[in-house]
Amino acid sequence: MVSRVIPVDPFDLVVFGATGDLARRKILPGLYRRFVAGQIPETSRIIGSARTEMDNQGFRAFVAEAIAEFIDAKKRDAESVARFLDHLRYVSVDAKGDSGWPELAALIRPDVVQAYYFSVAPSLFGDLAERLHRHGIASPEARIVVEKPFGRDLETAKALNATLAAHFAESQIYRIDHYLGKETVQNLMAVRFANILFEPLWNARHVDHVQITVSETVGVGGRGAYYDKSGAMRDMVQNHLMQLLCLIAMEAPYRFDPDAVRDEKLKVIHALQPVAPEDIVRGQYRAGGPGGNGSSYVEDVDHRDSRTESYIALKVDIANWRWKGTPFYLRTGKKLRARASEIAVVFKEVPHSIFGDEEGWRENVLAIRLQPNEGMTLSVMIKEPGPGGMRLTEVPLDMSFAEALGEDGADIPDAYERLIMDVIRGNQTLFMRGDEVEAAWAWTDPIIAAWEARGDRPKAYDPGSSGPEDALMLLHRDGRRWREIRE
Ligand code: BG6
Repeated sequence: MVSRVIPVDPFDLVVFGATGDLARRKILPGLYRRFVAGQIPETSRIIGSARTEMDNQGFRAFVAEAIAEFIDAKKRDAESVARFLDHLRYVSVDAKGDSGWPELAALIRPDVVQAYYFSVAPSLFGDLAERLHRHGIASPEARIVVEKPFGRDLETAKALNATLAAHFAESQIYRIDHYLGKETVQNLMAVRFANILFEPLWNARHVDHVQITVSETVGVGGRGAYYDKSGAMRDMVQNHLMQLLCLIAMEAPYRFDPDAVRDEKLKVIHALQPVAPEDIVRGQYRAGGPGGNGSSYVEDVDHRDSRTESYIALKVDIANWRWKGTPFYLRTGKKLRARASEIAVVFKEVPHSIFGDEEGWRENVLAIRLQPNEGMTLSVMIKEPGPGGMRLTEVPLDMSFAEALGEDGADIPDAYERLIMDVIRGNQTLFMRGDEVEAAWAWTDPIIAAWEARGDRPKAYDPGSSGPEDALMLLHRDGRRWREIRE
């Protein structure tokens, strides 16, 4: 299968914070990959911008290093790197002052797509937006791209939305949740809405429960200062897991159109019920783990008395006709057993077994593996082969996207590549709308406020485990169990 690469219109993309970690790891190498794929027109330009003084040559050397570090050697070559670097410029600007802005203004062309990527701390969003206007740089169709964290609660998110709205229309604002750019996450919509097979069963009558797991092996790394003020609830659940839940739970939009899709997701968020304290388990990793010498969470964030969670599991109810009575169990954590993210839709048992009380009777489960080994497995019951009566066994109908789609399946663009190209195309479907972000915080805030008011401490768990023991109870007491976390 050969995938079609449709070039985007010529553009000037300004990356503010171009010397930062996200630009180096994701944005700039991602743009190189799109360039090699033939999606970036020859007349397009990528303009790096940051406070650091640097000339074009210095920036090109910086980007060349980033490409060498983050792109597999088999997927880059000196000639295409050199051609890509020709598209790069650099302007040093002061986000809080006036230096550099006239130079930037002189560089931007009015007759191409303009996009401004704010890969900077949210505290600078207002300064950048205001100066882009004051210096007459941004055209009325210009797009701005902002990253999470989009606020740390409803109040700060509203303030950020207001700051951006002072200078840009909602149709110009692209709020990234990189999970929406993942191939398999988009596949959730394809599976649900391009097949007749699942939809009749996709409701509380037939679905016993849903499990959403995003498990990581990494700790908080060098991001301790940020993470300790966030925790897994703010860092992962309010955005990434919430988006996954929405895509599983939403009604079919009338069309695959940005506002139609986002309207349906918003309805799901509004239908989320408050979560009771007994339906939440928070955890924090201890020292140790594989090899025995890993540091603990409190060492990683350098805060001995921290009560921030590096793991959270919660049972969520959606109060609407489709889902009332079907719990959604969400869990995510750092330093767990494996890097594995999946959504499992666990169907109810057949209403009556004509085979009697067969041992080993199982439910049908549709498991969608988000990463790694992207694919889908549907477990079905069949007859165990051979004579000896009607014994049943469970087998997986297993599809790996890499195998099923050949080369295309193995070379899936990174989430950032896809999302940046969508910005240039002006397609907001995979970006969060302002009201969506606010609704997500409105659900999250009271949950966090309640455990803060109670002074709850997270439970300790071993690195390399599946999380705290108490998380098992969350399902056991409902007569269910978590799926194993494994790659
Ligand atoms: C980020 C979080 O948004 O997502 C990180 O801030 C987390 O803490 C990361 O590690 C996970 O993303 P991915 O694409 O590696 O699953």
